[in-house]
Amino acid sequence: MSEKNHRVSRRQFLNYTLTGVGGFMAAGMLMPMVRFAIDPVLKAGTDQEMVLVCDESELTTEPQRFDFKIDQIDAWYESEEPRAAWIFKSENGDVIALSPVCKHLGCTVNWASDEANPNRFFCPCHYGLYEKNGDNVPNTPPLAPLDVYQHKVEDGKVYLGSAKPKGEA
Ligand code: FES
Repeated sequence: MSEKNHRVSRRQFLNYTLTGVGGFMAAGMLMPMVRFAIDPVLKAGTDQEMVLVCDESELTTEPQRFDFKIDQIDAWYESEEPRAAWIFKSENGDVIALSPVCKHLGCTVNWASDEANPNRFFCPCHYGLYEKNGDNVPNTPPLAPLDVYQHKVEDGKVYLGSAKPKGEA
C-alpha cells in the first residue's frame, strides 16, 4: 500500500472536523432537553418525606383544613413549599387526609362551602363536587377522586407524606 492512500484530503479533513464539532454541539443541546423530558419520570417514584401536621386529638369526623410546609430541594435550590390537607376521622377511627387540589383544573376545594351540598367538598371554580371520602360526584367537572395523602400516626401525632391518586396512597 502506498503512503498516498493514507493521506487525508483537505475535503475529508474538513468533513471529519465539521461532523465532529457539529455532533458535539448537537449533543450539548440535546442532553438538557432529554433530561428535562424524562426528569418527571425519574422523580415520579420519589416520595415526600413525612411531615408533622397536627395532633390526632384535634381530629373529628368533620373534615378540617390543616396548612403545613414541606422542604423542597430543586437542584441547588432549597425552599419551603406550602401545602394543605383536609383531615378527618372515618366512622371506624381511621385517619383520612385528602388533598385540596381539585382534579379538574387545580383550584382549591372547600368542605361544605356550598349551601346546597353541606356534606360535600365544593370547588368554586366550575362547581365541582366531591363526596366526603374524596370521590368525585358524577356529572360535575372533576373526573377523578381527590388525591389522598400517605400518612402515619405516631405518639398521637399525625404525619403526612405525598398526596397520591386514591388507591395508590
Ligand atoms: S377546577 Fe375545580 S371544578 Fe374546575
